[in-house]
Amino acid sequence: MAGHRHDAKDQQLEHDRTDSTEPLTTDTGVRVEDTDNSLRAGARGPTLLEDFHTREKITHFDHERIPERVVHARGAGAYGRFTPYEGLGDLTAAHFLSSSDVTTPVFVRFSTVAGSRGSADTPRDVRGFAVKFYTEQGNYDLVGNNMPVFFIQDGIKFPDFVHALKPQPHNEIPQAQSAHDTLWDFVGMQPETMHMMMWLMSDRAIPRSYRMMQGFGVHTFRFVNAEGRGTFVKFHWKPLLGTHSLVWDEAQRVQGKDPDFNRRDLWDSIERGEHPEWELGVQLVDEADEHAFDFDLLDPTKLVPEEQVPVRPIGRLVLDRNPDNFFAETEQVAFHTANVVPGIDFTNDPLLQARNFSYLDTQLLRLGGPNFQQIPVNRPVAPVSNNQRDGFAQHRVHRGGTSYAQNSLGGGCPVTAGEGVFRHYTERVAGEKIRERSASFGDHYSQATLFYNSLADWEREHLLEAFRFELGKCEELSVRQKVVAHLNHVDHGLAVEVAEGVGVAAPDTEETPNHGRSSPALSQDNSATG
Ligand code: HEM
Repeated sequence: MAGHRHDAKDQQLEHDRTDSTEPLTTDTGVRVEDTDNSLRAGARGPTLLEDFHTREKITHFDHERIPERVVHARGAGAYGRFTPYEGLGDLTAAHFLSSSDVTTPVFVRFSTVAGSRGSADTPRDVRGFAVKFYTEQGNYDLVGNNMPVFFIQDGIKFPDFVHALKPQPHNEIPQAQSAHDTLWDFVGMQPETMHMMMWLMSDRAIPRSYRMMQGFGVHTFRFVNAEGRGTFVKFHWKPLLGTHSLVWDEAQRVQGKDPDFNRRDLWDSIERGEHPEWELGVQLVDEADEHAFDFDLLDPTKLVPEEQVPVRPIGRLVLDRNPDNFFAETEQVAFHTANVVPGIDFTNDPLLQARNFSYLDTQLLRLGGPNFQQIPVNRPVAPVSNNQRDGFAQHRVHRGGTSYAQNSLGGGCPVTAGEGVFRHYTERVAGEKIRERSASFGDHYSQATLFYNSLADWEREHLLEAFRFELGKCEELSVRQKVVAHLNHVDHGLAVEVAEGVGVAAPDTEETPNHGRSSPALSQDNSATG
């Protein structure tokens, strides 16, 4: 493992590492001299209940598995570091972005979304790109994907979407993420998926290497500076090796020959000392320009075109150390969009709001209770002190007779104000309590068209082939027809060619410009600032 730095996280982990070369003992530290023969009544008799070593060994083995992640179950991770190019104090109070002298340890996990933990690396799928920054002000997680938009606009649809995406419940087919009837049916029923489906049918969905993959925070987040001024921000990771994909035929062959293709590539490159690097960039939008776009900044199915708001490079991420233990680190790492630090805050994007509930909720189950932040890979390097107590797998020995605030007896953790505390951004919110989406989320096709128009001829060809291959797998012809009708809103020529490839009627008329929809935001000033 060439040349990684012993940063604060690495030093912290040193206390948890075990080399397992000492003589064999039980879990209670009792030396054992035979681990091949159970204790029996006579050489050919039954095993005795009092054989604590056999019982413990088998019991522990029986309990080795934990639930895999409900999505993004298959992944690979690595440690590294992040350094900003310059201080961003005018924009954010986040200490890890305050100066080019501050280097922050990170753990990154890349993943596929749909497959189970043992699935292959190279199916057509979205890739997760989750980064945990162990900052001096606490952990900050940027839990992103390799595509800048998402399938749905509201997290309440996520369980439906994932049920449609995952293998079907009666026979668990198909295992490899290849679009199938339920996914295409969902797409047909939910036109908001169309922009993301264009990305999913593009070469972006079969990255050649995790080292050659972009990452995006997807949502619009908010930077908040020390004076409390907010600025909308979109996050981008750009790989220094460039963005490269497999071609579909290659991806399928690789899947058969080496299901660990991406995982192995990441591991081997780090072992060779070829440390993958990404540049972090931000798109910044003044609060005054919140409504300056022909889409809603809170809509996660939209990106902010770089022509309108250029990406400003702000720092560099290097991955330089492989984990010591896959389960302990890559499997037990717990990312969460709500893990923010002072200077970074949320917006009212309804997908983000749901995510802020979902991750902690699922991790309470997946990692066995409320103390999973004490697991070495999750533990902050920032000091943790609070009045949280007890629970399964509590590893801390809290001393003292008081565990509440405020108290006048001494002990416990007092609440203090002052520099470095997290303050939620003061946003004025008013509205009626309604189950309704803003009309500004209504245009589902324009950016899908924008994406299609941005592709080179050969990229369009790959995308067409992907639509034909994947939609052609959908047995229900009415579903194929419905998807073609949506595609006709994106590009007439594409819709006709897909229809011909999947054996349904081609639409004979082109959809009207702007797709016959009017978004309220379209009437507003279209100037953007960056
Ligand atoms: C896991 C990204 C939407 C729920 C993940 C992971 C990533 C990710 C990268 C893997 C984390 C890891 O490596 O451990 C995204 C992005 C989204 C999105 C970019 C949209 C912009 C959602 C939504 C929900 C959700 C809407 C739920 C309402 C989950 C859950 C996990 C997960 C439950 C498993 C977490 C765990 O078990 O530790 N997501 N996700 N995600 N995501 Fe999302």
